[in-house]
Amino acid sequence: MTGRLRTDRLLLRPWRDTDLAPFAALNADPEVMRHFPAPLTRTESDALAHRLADGIDTRGWGLWALETVRDGEFIGFTGLSPVGFDAHFTPAVEIGWRLARTAWGRGHATEAARAALAFASDELGLEEVVSFTATGNARSRAVMARLGMTRTPHDDFTHPSLPPGHPLRPHVLYRLQLR
Ligand SMILES: CC(C)(COP(=O)(O)OP(=O)(O)OC[C@H]1O[C@@H](n2cnc3c(N)ncnc32)[C@H](O)[C@@H]1OP(=O)(O)O)[C@@H](O)C(=O)NCCC(=O)NCCS
Repeated sequence: MTGRLRTDRLLLRPWRDTDLAPFAALNADPEVMRHFPAPLTRTESDALAHRLADGIDTRGWGLWALETVRDGEFIGFTGLSPVGFDAHFTPAVEIGWRLARTAWGRGHATEAARAALAFASDELGLEEVVSFTATGNARSRAVMARLGMTRTPHDDFTHPSLPPGHPLRPHVLYRLQLR
């Protein structure tokens, strides 16, 4: 395993300390965090970056920092993660993404995710990858659809980390069979 992936326009790589400031900026953006309970403080953002970095260190794969090949700019993350809660579809590996708003609308999330899916299939030998999001997150659902992932309504679920009645609790699950 290489610990990093490359596409035409993007590098999926381990995290660096220089990612922390731009990561905090995107995590503080209410539009980026619209489908999460709240934007993150600098402390919360740094803690998340360290958790994601530790995951890559431990496994050799994970939610990689995403950098443009053209100018080396950090634009967010994309990658794979074991689902961290119990649900009807776990244990499972999920694919996820979060990009700075300036990087939206360029196909970056889909391009990076395709590389992560190839890794999941070729290197990890996974049979299936899932993805999920709050029902109203149309942009994220569009990425899932572009990747060929499919949702069936009987897989919809309520996220266990959110309290009953929370508007972000209803989630959709998308699946992709890799073999
Ligand atoms: C979810 C998220 C990553 C999607 O970003 P996105 O830019 O919409 O998705 P992509 O990177 O795949 O880009 C697709 C768009 O780029 C356009 N595009 C431009 N150039 C392109 C190219 N060379 N190749 C492919 N698409 C291109 C596509 O037409 C599409 O545009 P559209 O949105 O008008 O249909 C982004 O909205 C985000 O970070 N949201 C906040 C975090 C979040 O909610 N994460 C998911 C939690 S589950």
